[in-house]
Amino acid sequence: MQFLSIFAIVAGLTAPIQCTLCGPPLQIDNFSRWSSNTNSLNDWTSDDGTMSTISASNNLLLFKPSSSGSYFYESFPCQTASTNGYNAVSFVIKGPSGGSLILEIASSVCCSANAQLSKNVQVIGLSGVTQTVIVPFSSAIGANPNAVRELTWSGFSTLNTVWQLSNISFVCIPSSVIV
Ligand SMILES: *[C@@H]1O[C@H](CO)[C@@H](O)[C@H](O)[C@H]1NC(C)=O
Ligand SMILES: *[C@@H]1O[C@H](CO)[C@@H](O)[C@H](O)[C@H]1NC(C)=O
Repeated sequence: MQFLSIFAIVAGLTAPIQCTLCGPPLQIDNFSRWSSNTNSLNDWTSDDGTMSTISASNNLLLFKPSSSGSYFYESFPCQTASTNGYNAVSFVIKGPSGGSLILEIASSVCCSANAQLSKNVQVIGLSGVTQTVIVPFSSAIGANPNAVRELTWSGFSTLNTVWQLSNISFVCIPSSVIV
């Protein structure tokens, strides 16, 4: 498996990463319970019928986007991710070579308030083989890493082809990895 960091196109990336806790990854979904639309945080995951096909086996989600409106999401109880030592979202993906997608990090001003703070991060230049993509919260300025509520994948560059997604996690990566 390739390890690759792909970063958002975001101007003014200045915030230093504080990562004092750096615990083991928090698994959001490994797709073992896709058949009941349930993720590893015991919450809802779905494409709301926007893909032409979608299924999971062997901890791998396979889906075929059919239009620019195709998406897939993971919702979960509000996560104080940065307080808990995480500074990035990690997922494993196999998409078309040169392909791109958008990861939306939906959050709110704090876990006890619902006011939405969402940010789209563009992931570009997929390799065409299975790879780990790391999206640091610092590439999603405008989203609150201390009140993360949902992750949504959309904007798939190639339609009517099978993409694979697996092992969605919050992770703590060394600041040296973040450019
Ligand atoms: C997948 O996650 C579940 C928890 O949701 C865990 O019990 C199971 O062991 C995991 N499976 C694999 C193959 O990692
Ligand atoms: C899932 O991803 C995390 C974070 O990248 C990694 O530490 C872990 O080994 C992965 N688990 C599997 C089963 O691939």
